[in-house]
Amino acid sequence: MEAVRDKAVVVTGAGGGIGAALARRFATEGARVVVNDLDAAKAEKTAAELGALAVPGDASTVVPAAREALGGDIDIFCANAGVGTGGGPDAPEDDWALAWDVNVMAHVRAARELLPGWLARGDGRFVSTVSAAGLLTMIEAAPYSVTKHGAYAFAEWLSLTYRHRGVAVHAICPQGVRTDMLAATGAAGELVLTPTAVEPETVADALLDAMAEDRFLVLPHPEVAAYYTARAAEPDRWLGSMNRLQQKLERTDGR
Ligand SMILES: NC(=O)c1ccc[n+]([C@@H]2O[C@H](COP(=O)([O-])OP(=O)(O)OC[C@H]3O[C@@H](n4cnc5c(N)ncnc54)[C@H](O)[C@@H]3O)[C@@H](O)[C@H]2O)c1
Repeated sequence: MEAVRDKAVVVTGAGGGIGAALARRFATEGARVVVNDLDAAKAEKTAAELGALAVPGDASTVVPAAREALGGDIDIFCANAGVGTGGGPDAPEDDWALAWDVNVMAHVRAARELLPGWLARGDGRFVSTVSAAGLLTMIEAAPYSVTKHGAYAFAEWLSLTYRHRGVAVHAICPQGVRTDMLAATGAAGELVLTPTAVEPETVADALLDAMAEDRFLVLPHPEVAAYYTARAAEPDRWLGSMNRLQQKLERTDGR
């Protein structure tokens, strides 16, 4: 694919799961790829498998080190690292702060570093791995749902502000994807995500299709479009159906 061949690509949180699948797909398409992950061993293992460059560390601060590893500008930045923080208002302050930091602020900080160069040359691509929870919600996971709405809002803002200046933005909004994060979602994930979960490679395919079509919204589960429409058109009806899922979960749990 022309938009990818020889491009310099960074994928955060790419030591496993969706990030590793994105990095693999970009490497297969002939890109020069940086694999970032907070877990250095995972970053190095994935990078070695792909013939890519490992730049371990926090996704919030990866841009300068990634530029150095690539020996120049970043063409495509995938803000993919995320934390699946569960709970409600009772979740500890530190959990809320971490979700905000990784799921939203890491995207903001990367964009702050990348935009001046991209706007000067009139070219750049920002890919945000959001979640269907950023369009809808995830039961039992308020910090995750709220911060993924934030990530989606930020991706939208970037797109509408800079699309006439050569910056392309994509927001990937899957439901369940078979990764470590899905395995950790417990009963709520088993109820709403596992039955329709897809492989990480399906997410990478959906992104490449969206890039080819210059499309912002990437839906590896196409049915999410109808849920998103229903939520906007009839909020109480949608909330009622989500509440029935909540009640079903509570019955399953014996609450
Ligand atoms: N798995 C799903 O069902 C699903 C669905 C929708 C969206 N997502 C989103 O996809 C993205 C990837 O998740 P995944 O399912 O592949 O999970 P995963 O747990 O397999 O991978 C996430 C990776 O991010 C890394 N990471 C965490 N914090 C980091 C940080 N601050 N800096 C750098 N790396 C960090 C972790 O070490 C891990 O390797 C996340 O943003 C997640 O919210 C996942």
